[in-house]
Amino acid sequence: MKRISLTQYLVEEQRLNNNIPAELRLLIEVVARACKTISHAVGKGALGEVLGSAETENIQGEVQKKLDILSNEILLEANEWGGHLAAMASEEMESIHLIPNRYPKGEYMLLFDPLDGSSNIDVNVTIGTIFSVIKAPEGMATPTEQDFLQAGSKQVAAGYAIYGPQTMFVLTTGQGVNCFTLDREMGSWVLTQRNMTIPEDTQEYAINASNSRHWYPPVTRYIDELLAGTTGPRGKNFNMRWIAAMVTDVHRILNRGGIFMYPADAREPDKAGKLRLMYEANPMSMLIEQAGGASTNGKQRILDIQPEKLHQRVAVFLGSKNEVERVTSYHLEK
Ligand code: F6P
Ligand code: MN
Repeated sequence: MKRISLTQYLVEEQRLNNNIPAELRLLIEVVARACKTISHAVGKGALGEVLGSAETENIQGEVQKKLDILSNEILLEANEWGGHLAAMASEEMESIHLIPNRYPKGEYMLLFDPLDGSSNIDVNVTIGTIFSVIKAPEGMATPTEQDFLQAGSKQVAAGYAIYGPQTMFVLTTGQGVNCFTLDREMGSWVLTQRNMTIPEDTQEYAINASNSRHWYPPVTRYIDELLAGTTGPRGKNFNMRWIAAMVTDVHRILNRGGIFMYPADAREPDKAGKLRLMYEANPMSMLIEQAGGASTNGKQRILDIQPEKLHQRVAVFLGSKNEVERVTSYHLEK
């Protein structure tokens, strides 16, 4: 196999499509390098004394794990000095992080969920890092939170690293989705899948069914029809998977199709689901659409939502196009 490194891929992609200027290439390489460091820490586990709770809570009121905090610090430190960013925002930090004055500023802004699925850390189940890249408003040296509130369709790049049996880096810059595998001995990212594509149809779905008593009618109807199998209205059986790490469920869907759902429900009617628009739903929606899938909040395309708050939550239905369209149409019916 001819090995193509992440750097070579990015340089060639710029020559071909003129969509990865040098600063963006640096940004992507720095994020990928930080993910290597996180992967190393995750892989050490108890030997690195990184497991367990940090006994603190994040802005969402969730208990932070030591690895949540460590991953956040790794990403901040790696991205501060390169001159490619104007600011960063993280699921683990209440307010945005400006680039310190001692460093030059760049035209991009980076958002991330440093360690997604962190309830899986202590049981050695696959987790990941999700990131999203947008542009700072023209000539903006000191961005504010307001400048981050751009619809997902404005993202110039998005991706994730996944820390599983293999460590992988999945990336889109708006020209399809490509996957790189970490060669642990060489310390380099090698292109292993080009143009990941999601089949339009699927017989696999992902939802946390323990919340079913709280679901709204369109979700209940959709899931009931799947559960009815060959004798129900769908006339076929459906299989279910739920990892409790969005990154891992999305990775499966990018590889073999499926639909992932985290709906809003009646538990907290004023909260639109659990997942975060800016750190999870937007980057994953860009990847899913770039791979030929669809992503909605049940009513509209997620990438069209105008964010109102940095830590805003959103209902998510994403994956194989025909299933996402069906469950969305159930929401839109009167
Ligand atoms: O980041 C939130 C998250 O951990 C996702 O990665 C995952 O899909 C979801 O929460 C799991 O939620 P629950 O614990 O309700 O199954
Ligand atoms: Mn997460």
